[in-house]
Amino acid sequence: MRGSIKMCVLVMIGAAIIFYQSHLSNTLVVRIETNQELPNAKEEMFVDGNGIGVAAVGAGNSGAVGILNINSNSHSQLALPPLYIITPTYYRAEQLPELTRLSHTLMLVPNVHWLVIEDAHTKSPLVGELLERTSLKFSHLVAPMPDKYKKRKVKPRGVSNRNRGLQWIREHATNGVFYFADDDNTYDLRLFEQMRFTKKVSMWPVGLITKLGVSSPIVRNGTFDGFYDGWIAGRKFPVDMAGFAVSVKFLLERPNATMPFKPGFEEDGFLRSLAPFEPKDIELLASNCTKVLVWHTQTKKNERSQPLDMVKYGTTNLVDLKKVIF
Ligand SMILES: *[C@@H]1O[C@H](CO)[C@@H](O)[C@H](O)[C@H]1NC(C)=O
Ligand SMILES: *[C@@H]1O[C@H](CO)[C@@H](O)[C@H](O)[C@H]1NC(C)=O
Ligand SMILES: *[C@@H]1O[C@H](CO)[C@@H](O)[C@H](O)[C@H]1NC(C)=O
Repeated sequence: MRGSIKMCVLVMIGAAIIFYQSHLSNTLVVRIETNQELPNAKEEMFVDGNGIGVAAVGAGNSGAVGILNINSNSHSQLALPPLYIITPTYYRAEQLPELTRLSHTLMLVPNVHWLVIEDAHTKSPLVGELLERTSLKFSHLVAPMPDKYKKRKVKPRGVSNRNRGLQWIREHATNGVFYFADDDNTYDLRLFEQMRFTKKVSMWPVGLITKLGVSSPIVRNGTFDGFYDGWIAGRKFPVDMAGFAVSVKFLLERPNATMPFKPGFEEDGFLRSLAPFEPKDIELLASNCTKVLVWHTQTKKNERSQPLDMVKYGTTNLVDLKKVIF
Protein backbone atom coordinates (compact mmCIF):
# COMPACT_ATOMS: atom_id res chain seq x y z
CA MET A 1 0.00 0.00 0.00
CA ARG A 2 2.73 2.44 1.06
CA GLY A 3 4.78 1.31 -1.90
CA SER A 4 2.03 2.10 -4.37
CA ILE A 5 1.44 5.58 -2.87
CA LYS A 6 5.17 6.26 -3.15
CA MET A 7 5.14 5.03 -6.76
CA CYS A 8 2.15 7.21 -7.58
CA VAL A 9 3.80 10.33 -6.10
CA LEU A 10 7.01 9.57 -8.01
CA VAL A 11 5.12 9.20 -11.29
CA MET A 12 3.30 12.50 -10.68
CA ILE A 13 6.54 14.35 -9.89
CA GLY A 14 8.17 12.81 -12.97
CA ALA A 15 5.27 13.85 -15.19
CA ALA A 16 5.39 17.41 -13.83
CA ILE A 17 9.11 17.71 -14.52
CA ILE A 18 8.76 16.31 -18.03
CA PHE A 19 5.92 18.74 -18.71
CA TYR A 20 8.10 21.59 -17.40
CA GLN A 21 11.01 20.48 -19.56
CA SER A 22 9.01 20.15 -22.74
CA HIS A 23 7.81 23.70 -22.10
CA LEU A 24 11.38 24.89 -21.75
CA SER A 25 12.50 23.37 -24.99
CA ASN A 26 9.65 22.90 -27.38
CA THR A 27 11.60 20.32 -29.27
CA LEU A 28 12.06 17.49 -26.85
CA VAL A 29 12.17 14.86 -29.53
CA VAL A 30 13.65 11.54 -28.71
CA ARG A 31 14.53 9.46 -31.70
CA ILE A 32 15.92 6.05 -31.14
CA GLU A 33 17.68 4.42 -33.99
CA THR A 34 18.49 0.80 -33.93
CA ASN A 35 19.11 -1.84 -36.50
CA GLN A 36 17.72 -4.56 -34.32
CA GLU A 37 14.32 -5.52 -33.16
CA LEU A 38 14.22 -5.17 -29.41
CA PRO A 39 12.02 -7.90 -27.97
CA ASN A 40 10.47 -6.93 -24.62
CA ALA A 41 11.91 -3.44 -25.04
CA LYS A 42 11.29 -1.27 -22.06
CA GLU A 43 11.44 2.50 -22.10
CA GLU A 44 12.46 4.45 -19.06
CA MET A 45 12.77 8.11 -18.32
CA PHE A 46 15.14 9.07 -15.54
CA VAL A 47 14.68 12.55 -14.21
CA ASP A 48 17.08 13.79 -11.59
CA GLY A 49 16.67 16.61 -9.09
CA ASN A 50 17.62 19.19 -11.68
CA GLY A 51 15.03 18.25 -14.21
CA ILE A 52 17.45 16.59 -16.57
CA GLY A 53 16.19 13.58 -18.39
CA VAL A 54 18.05 10.68 -19.85
CA ALA A 55 16.12 8.13 -21.81
CA ALA A 56 17.35 4.59 -22.04
CA VAL A 57 15.91 1.74 -23.96
CA GLY A 58 16.82 -1.68 -22.76
CA ALA A 59 15.86 -4.85 -24.48
CA GLY A 60 14.69 -7.57 -22.18
CA ASN A 61 17.16 -10.37 -22.18
CA SER A 62 18.62 -9.73 -25.59
CA GLY A 63 21.38 -7.60 -24.16
CA ALA A 64 21.06 -4.78 -26.69
CA VAL A 65 20.87 -1.41 -25.01
CA GLY A 66 20.74 2.05 -26.57
CA ILE A 67 21.34 5.08 -24.41
CA LEU A 68 21.10 8.62 -25.57
CA ASN A 69 21.64 11.88 -23.86
CA ILE A 70 18.81 14.20 -24.79
CA ASN A 71 20.30 17.14 -23.02
CA SER A 72 22.98 18.49 -25.28
CA ASN A 73 22.62 22.25 -25.37
CA SER A 74 19.16 22.26 -23.83
CA HIS A 75 18.14 25.41 -21.97
CA SER A 76 18.02 23.73 -18.60
CA GLN A 77 21.55 22.43 -19.01
CA LEU A 78 22.99 25.90 -19.46
CA ALA A 79 21.51 26.91 -16.12
CA LEU A 80 23.53 24.23 -14.32
CA PRO A 81 26.96 25.16 -12.92
CA PRO A 82 29.61 23.53 -15.14
CA LEU A 83 31.61 20.55 -13.95
CA TYR A 84 35.28 20.43 -14.94
CA ILE A 85 36.52 16.87 -14.81
CA ILE A 86 40.31 16.64 -14.69
CA THR A 87 41.54 13.23 -15.82
CA PRO A 88 45.26 12.49 -15.86
CA THR A 89 46.16 9.57 -18.10
CA TYR A 90 49.21 7.83 -19.56
CA TYR A 91 49.99 5.31 -22.26
CA ARG A 92 49.48 1.72 -21.12
CA ALA A 93 47.46 -1.37 -22.08
CA GLU A 94 44.46 -0.23 -20.02
CA GLN A 95 44.37 3.37 -21.24
CA LEU A 96 41.81 3.07 -24.05
CA PRO A 97 39.46 0.73 -22.19
CA GLU A 98 39.53 2.91 -19.05
CA LEU A 99 38.93 6.12 -21.02
CA THR A 100 36.14 4.43 -22.97
CA ARG A 101 34.39 3.50 -19.75
CA LEU A 102 34.83 6.91 -18.15
CA SER A 103 33.75 8.73 -21.30
CA HIS A 104 30.52 6.75 -21.37
CA THR A 105 29.84 7.74 -17.78
CA LEU A 106 30.49 11.42 -18.49
CA MET A 107 28.23 11.31 -21.57
CA LEU A 108 25.37 10.86 -19.13
CA VAL A 109 26.30 13.95 -17.11
CA PRO A 110 24.99 17.36 -18.26
CA ASN A 111 27.20 20.44 -18.65
CA VAL A 112 30.54 18.71 -18.30
CA HIS A 113 33.88 19.86 -19.67
CA TRP A 114 36.36 17.00 -19.67
CA LEU A 115 40.04 17.87 -19.35
CA VAL A 116 42.03 14.83 -20.45
CA ILE A 117 45.69 15.38 -19.79
CA GLU A 118 48.32 12.92 -20.91
CA ASP A 119 51.65 12.36 -19.24
CA ALA A 120 53.37 12.59 -22.63
CA HIS A 121 55.17 15.03 -24.89
CA THR A 122 52.67 14.64 -27.72
CA LYS A 123 48.97 13.89 -27.80
CA SER A 124 47.97 10.33 -28.61
CA PRO A 125 45.86 10.28 -31.80
CA LEU A 126 43.90 7.32 -30.44
CA VAL A 127 42.93 9.27 -27.32
CA GLY A 128 42.05 12.23 -29.55
CA GLU A 129 39.78 10.09 -31.72
CA LEU A 130 38.09 8.65 -28.64
CA LEU A 131 37.40 12.17 -27.35
CA GLU A 132 36.00 13.30 -30.71
CA ARG A 133 33.54 10.40 -30.65
CA THR A 134 32.10 11.32 -27.24
CA SER A 135 30.31 14.57 -28.26
CA LEU A 136 31.46 15.91 -24.91
CA LYS A 137 33.03 19.33 -24.44
CA PHE A 138 36.68 18.45 -23.88
CA SER A 139 40.24 19.75 -23.88
CA HIS A 140 42.99 17.33 -24.82
CA LEU A 141 46.24 18.45 -23.21
CA VAL A 142 49.69 17.06 -22.44
CA ALA A 143 51.82 17.60 -19.34
CA PRO A 144 54.84 15.27 -19.10
CA MET A 145 56.28 14.44 -15.72
CA PRO A 146 59.51 16.46 -15.24
CA ASP A 147 62.58 14.29 -15.89
CA LYS A 148 63.92 14.66 -12.35
CA TYR A 149 60.92 12.71 -10.98
CA LYS A 150 61.09 9.96 -13.60
CA LYS A 151 64.19 8.45 -12.03
CA ARG A 152 62.54 8.00 -8.65
CA LYS A 153 61.39 4.60 -7.47
CA VAL A 154 58.00 5.91 -6.35
CA LYS A 155 56.92 8.44 -8.95
CA PRO A 156 54.52 11.33 -8.39
CA ARG A 157 52.17 10.12 -11.10
CA GLY A 158 49.51 12.46 -12.44
CA VAL A 159 50.75 15.56 -10.59
CA SER A 160 52.04 17.32 -13.66
CA ASN A 161 48.76 16.54 -15.43
CA ARG A 162 46.55 17.74 -12.59
CA ASN A 163 48.49 20.98 -12.18
CA ARG A 164 48.09 21.53 -15.93
CA GLY A 165 44.34 21.05 -15.39
CA LEU A 166 44.37 23.64 -12.60
CA GLN A 167 46.22 26.06 -14.89
CA TRP A 168 43.58 25.52 -17.59
CA ILE A 169 40.83 26.24 -15.07
CA ARG A 170 42.54 29.42 -13.92
CA GLU A 171 42.75 30.57 -17.55
CA HIS A 172 39.31 29.53 -18.80
CA ALA A 173 36.78 28.95 -16.00
CA THR A 174 34.90 31.44 -13.85
CA ASN A 175 32.34 29.34 -12.00
CA GLY A 176 31.29 25.77 -11.36
CA VAL A 177 33.20 22.96 -9.73
CA PHE A 178 36.21 20.80 -10.60
CA TYR A 179 36.97 17.21 -9.73
CA PHE A 180 40.07 15.04 -10.18
CA ALA A 181 38.59 11.91 -11.77
CA ASP A 182 41.23 9.29 -12.51
CA ASP A 183 40.45 6.96 -15.39
CA ASP A 184 40.56 3.78 -13.27
CA ASN A 185 37.60 4.46 -10.97
CA THR A 186 33.90 3.63 -11.19
CA TYR A 187 31.59 6.62 -10.78
CA ASP A 188 27.91 6.67 -9.80
CA LEU A 189 26.08 9.38 -11.78
CA ARG A 190 24.52 10.75 -8.58
CA LEU A 191 27.98 11.85 -7.44
CA PHE A 192 28.24 14.45 -10.22
CA GLU A 193 24.90 16.06 -9.41
CA GLN A 194 25.78 16.25 -5.73
CA MET A 195 29.22 17.81 -6.21
CA ARG A 196 27.91 20.35 -8.73
CA PHE A 197 26.80 22.77 -6.00
CA THR A 198 30.00 22.68 -3.92
CA LYS A 199 30.67 26.07 -2.31
CA LYS A 200 34.22 25.45 -1.07
CA VAL A 201 35.32 21.81 -0.87
CA SER A 202 32.96 18.85 -0.71
CA MET A 203 33.88 15.31 0.34
CA TRP A 204 32.39 11.81 0.35
CA PRO A 205 33.47 8.18 0.82
CA VAL A 206 35.59 6.27 -1.73
CA GLY A 207 35.13 2.52 -1.84
CA LEU A 208 37.63 -0.31 -2.43
CA ILE A 209 40.58 1.51 -0.98
CA THR A 210 43.29 0.33 1.44
CA LYS A 211 42.86 -2.48 3.94
CA LEU A 212 39.85 -0.70 5.47
CA GLY A 213 37.94 -1.00 2.20
CA VAL A 214 36.76 2.60 2.33
CA SER A 215 38.19 6.06 2.90
CA SER A 216 35.75 8.64 4.27
CA PRO A 217 35.22 11.62 6.51
CA ILE A 218 33.76 10.43 9.83
CA VAL A 219 30.35 11.96 10.51
CA ARG A 220 29.01 11.99 14.03
CA ASN A 221 25.65 13.54 14.81
CA GLY A 222 25.59 15.16 11.39
CA THR A 223 28.96 16.91 11.67
CA PHE A 224 32.54 16.20 10.65
CA ASP A 225 34.52 14.25 13.26
CA GLY A 226 37.79 13.18 11.64
CA PHE A 227 38.88 10.87 8.83
CA TYR A 228 38.69 7.10 8.37
CA ASP A 229 41.50 5.99 6.07
CA GLY A 230 43.90 3.05 6.03
CA TRP A 231 46.93 5.32 5.74
CA ILE A 232 46.85 8.47 7.88
CA ALA A 233 50.64 9.12 7.80
CA GLY A 234 50.41 12.47 9.55
CA ARG A 235 48.22 13.91 6.83
CA LYS A 236 45.89 16.75 7.76
CA PHE A 237 43.54 15.59 4.98
CA PRO A 238 43.95 11.78 4.69
CA VAL A 239 41.63 11.40 1.70
CA ASP A 240 41.73 9.88 -1.77
CA MET A 241 41.93 11.88 -4.98
CA ALA A 242 38.44 10.70 -5.93
CA GLY A 243 36.97 11.80 -2.60
CA PHE A 244 36.60 15.55 -3.02
CA ALA A 245 35.57 18.35 -5.38
CA VAL A 246 36.40 22.06 -5.25
CA SER A 247 34.55 25.20 -6.27
CA VAL A 248 36.22 27.03 -9.16
CA LYS A 249 35.68 30.40 -7.44
CA PHE A 250 37.29 29.03 -4.27
CA LEU A 251 40.35 28.00 -6.31
CA LEU A 252 40.57 31.33 -8.15
CA GLU A 253 40.69 33.14 -4.79
CA ARG A 254 43.80 31.07 -3.99
CA PRO A 255 46.34 31.83 -6.70
CA ASN A 256 49.07 29.75 -5.03
CA ALA A 257 47.09 26.54 -4.68
CA THR A 258 48.95 23.67 -6.35
CA MET A 259 49.58 19.95 -6.07
CA PRO A 260 53.01 18.91 -4.75
CA PHE A 261 55.21 16.29 -6.48
CA LYS A 262 55.15 14.17 -3.31
CA PRO A 263 53.93 10.58 -3.77
CA GLY A 264 51.24 9.72 -1.24
CA PHE A 265 50.81 13.32 -0.16
CA GLU A 266 49.30 14.81 -3.34
CA GLU A 267 45.77 15.16 -1.96
CA ASP A 268 46.94 16.43 1.42
CA GLY A 269 49.37 18.91 -0.12
CA PHE A 270 46.78 20.24 -2.53
CA LEU A 271 44.06 20.60 0.12
CA ARG A 272 46.53 22.32 2.49
CA SER A 273 47.45 24.72 -0.31
CA LEU A 274 43.81 25.85 -0.36
CA ALA A 275 44.31 27.60 2.99
CA PRO A 276 42.45 29.21 4.56
CA PHE A 277 40.52 25.93 4.54
CA GLU A 278 39.97 23.68 7.56
CA PRO A 279 38.38 20.24 7.95
CA LYS A 280 35.36 21.85 9.64
CA ASP A 281 34.64 23.68 6.34
CA ILE A 282 34.16 20.41 4.45
CA GLU A 283 30.74 19.97 2.83
CA LEU A 284 29.71 16.39 3.52
CA LEU A 285 27.94 14.76 0.56
CA ALA A 286 26.62 11.25 -0.21
CA SER A 287 23.91 11.54 2.46
CA ASN A 288 26.24 12.57 5.26
CA CYS A 289 28.85 10.14 3.91
CA THR A 290 26.64 7.07 4.32
CA LYS A 291 26.77 6.10 0.62
CA VAL A 292 29.57 4.97 -1.67
CA LEU A 293 29.27 6.75 -5.02
CA VAL A 294 32.80 6.14 -6.32
CA TRP A 295 35.03 3.09 -6.18
CA HIS A 296 38.75 2.71 -6.72
CA THR A 297 38.15 -0.23 -9.02
CA GLN A 298 41.74 -0.87 -10.14
CA THR A 299 41.76 -2.76 -13.39
CA LYS A 300 44.18 -5.67 -13.50
CA LYS A 301 47.51 -4.64 -14.98
CA ASN A 302 48.19 -6.27 -18.32
CA GLU A 303 51.61 -7.10 -19.63
CA ARG A 304 52.82 -5.82 -22.97
CA SER A 305 51.59 -8.18 -25.68
CA GLN A 306 53.91 -10.19 -27.91
CA PRO A 307 54.88 -8.55 -31.20
CA LEU A 308 52.87 -9.44 -34.28
CA ASP A 309 54.49 -11.76 -36.81
CA MET A 310 54.39 -9.40 -39.79
CA VAL A 311 55.55 -12.03 -42.27
CA LYS A 312 52.56 -14.18 -41.43
CA TYR A 313 49.96 -11.48 -40.68
CA GLY A 314 51.27 -8.27 -42.29
CA THR A 315 48.34 -8.02 -44.71
CA THR A 316 45.54 -8.85 -42.25
CA ASN A 317 43.20 -7.10 -39.78
CA LEU A 318 45.64 -7.98 -36.99
CA VAL A 319 47.83 -5.04 -38.00
CA ASP A 320 44.98 -2.64 -37.13
CA LEU A 321 44.20 -4.48 -33.92
CA LYS A 322 47.79 -4.27 -32.73
CA LYS A 323 47.63 -0.46 -32.96
CA VAL A 324 45.12 -0.30 -30.11
CA ILE A 325 46.67 -3.10 -28.05
CA PHE A 326 49.65 -2.14 -25.90
C1 LIG B 1 23.73 16.55 18.09
O1 LIG B 1 23.69 17.88 17.55
C2 LIG B 1 22.64 18.67 18.02
C3 LIG B 1 22.70 20.03 17.36
O2 LIG B 1 23.32 19.98 16.13
C4 LIG B 1 22.74 18.83 19.53
O3 LIG B 1 21.62 19.55 20.02
C5 LIG B 1 22.77 17.47 20.19
O4 LIG B 1 23.01 17.61 21.58
C6 LIG B 1 23.88 16.61 19.59
N1 LIG B 1 23.82 15.27 20.13
C7 LIG B 1 24.88 14.62 20.60
C8 LIG B 1 24.64 13.23 21.13
O5 LIG B 1 26.01 15.10 20.59
C1 LIG C 1 22.93 15.15 7.70
O1 LIG C 1 22.81 15.18 9.10
C2 LIG C 1 22.20 16.37 9.61
C3 LIG C 1 22.26 16.32 11.13
O2 LIG C 1 21.81 15.07 11.60
C4 LIG C 1 20.80 16.50 9.10
O3 LIG C 1 20.22 17.71 9.53
C5 LIG C 1 20.82 16.48 7.58
O4 LIG C 1 19.51 16.48 7.08
C6 LIG C 1 21.56 15.27 7.06
N1 LIG C 1 21.71 15.40 5.63
C7 LIG C 1 21.41 14.42 4.78
C8 LIG C 1 21.59 14.73 3.35
O5 LIG C 1 21.05 13.31 5.14
C1 LIG D 1 51.71 33.31 -3.03
O1 LIG D 1 53.10 33.02 -3.02
C2 LIG D 1 53.91 34.18 -3.11
C3 LIG D 1 55.34 33.72 -3.28
O2 LIG D 1 55.66 32.66 -2.44
C4 LIG D 1 53.70 35.03 -1.86
O3 LIG D 1 54.49 36.18 -1.92
C5 LIG D 1 52.22 35.41 -1.78
O4 LIG D 1 51.97 36.12 -0.58
C6 LIG D 1 51.32 34.20 -1.84
N1 LIG D 1 49.95 34.60 -1.98
C7 LIG D 1 48.96 34.12 -1.21
C8 LIG D 1 47.60 34.66 -1.49
O5 LIG D 1 49.14 33.28 -0.36
